[in-house]
Amino acid sequence: MKINFLRSKIIQIFEKHKLSKKHSKVCADYLIKAELIEAKSHGLTRLKMYCNRIKKKLINPKPKIKIKRISSSISYVDADNSIGFVSADIGVAQAIKNAKKTGVGLVAIKNSGHFGLSSFYAEQAVKKNLMVFCFTNAPPALAPYGAKKSLFGTNPICFGAPTGKTPFILDTSTSIINRGKIRHAHKFGKKIPYGVALNKFGKITTNAREALNGTQLPIAGFKGSGLAWMVDILSGVLTGSSHGGKTKDPFDDFSGPQNVGHLFITINPKIFIGNRYIKEIKKNIKLIKKLPKAKGFSSILYPGERKNNLYKKNLNKDILIPRKILQEMVELNVVK
Ligand SMILES: NC(=O)c1ccc[n+]([C@@H]2O[C@H](COP(=O)([O-])OP(=O)(O)OC[C@H]3O[C@@H](n4cnc5c(N)ncnc54)[C@H](O)[C@@H]3O)[C@@H](O)[C@H]2O)c1
Repeated sequence: MKINFLRSKIIQIFEKHKLSKKHSKVCADYLIKAELIEAKSHGLTRLKMYCNRIKKKLINPKPKIKIKRISSSISYVDADNSIGFVSADIGVAQAIKNAKKTGVGLVAIKNSGHFGLSSFYAEQAVKKNLMVFCFTNAPPALAPYGAKKSLFGTNPICFGAPTGKTPFILDTSTSIINRGKIRHAHKFGKKIPYGVALNKFGKITTNAREALNGTQLPIAGFKGSGLAWMVDILSGVLTGSSHGGKTKDPFDDFSGPQNVGHLFITINPKIFIGNRYIKEIKKNIKLIKKLPKAKGFSSILYPGERKNNLYKKNLNKDILIPRKILQEMVELNVVK
């Protein structure tokens, strides 16, 4: 489907679900962005889920989002159960504004929902020549090290830095793969990679349904569990949002709004070394890229480069939509 046509259809679907035109456009753009960087787990496959939650009044389509000023650097956003894309979009814009004024921006968001990929927001700060950290919590998927039961989300850690060229954007779950990839595999009857999840009996499984009912494995064992815990503290405890396994799963927990928390930290990279920053980061990247390559590697990529290349490659192409998702769009009663 042509990107512009698809965008207009997604906007119609969200408007039909009572979102304003402005908010519908924000959501459509992020869903399409996920498709363009081939993060199918966070693209159109989630449209039905967001609409379901709006219909069940668990996402507020007309939120009154409040931004409280705590200092010139610090702001606190109450998202009023808005769809996560919209509150995160507002939150990162505020974090950018704060850092432009003072050198550092810190924005906490409470009462939000699933916001897609952290890189969406990191990219905006990097495009304004800022470094950035983005944190968000997510529903239970990982067992804390030593526990039998899932409690932490796949809680991503995202860091971005301007490089003078393609942004450096490391955006990783604290689980080996993100949960969306497992949901996507389940939806399309595919297997998941070996070694990323256990079934409910604690055995490695490649069956997506079993993995969803079991537990995902953290990156690097107890270290990943610790990082997921850190994100739970930063985006849950610190922001006054759900934490300790209380974040609701957007797909199958309809007992209330998700109350997801996000935290954005923006930093002017010139605060210590001034204009030398760009020279130094370029030097840093050049040094690493020039290293002798390991067997099977023709180049060393930094985080964010691959997705940027995919985006450029796909930007002028049509988006292929699987029949199952087209059918969902028909059921959302817009695409005829
Ligand atoms: N909103 C949520 O609740 C939520 C929860 C978890 C994850 N997520 C999102 O899921 C995505 C992470 O998914 P994932 O954990 O499966 O990771 P991934 O495999 O998609 O990528 C992880 C990181 O590794 C980098 N990378 C990949 N290949 C590389 C290579 N060859 N060389 C150098 N770097 C490379 C990527 O740029 C990225 O920064 C993130 O965008 C994250 O924000 C969202």
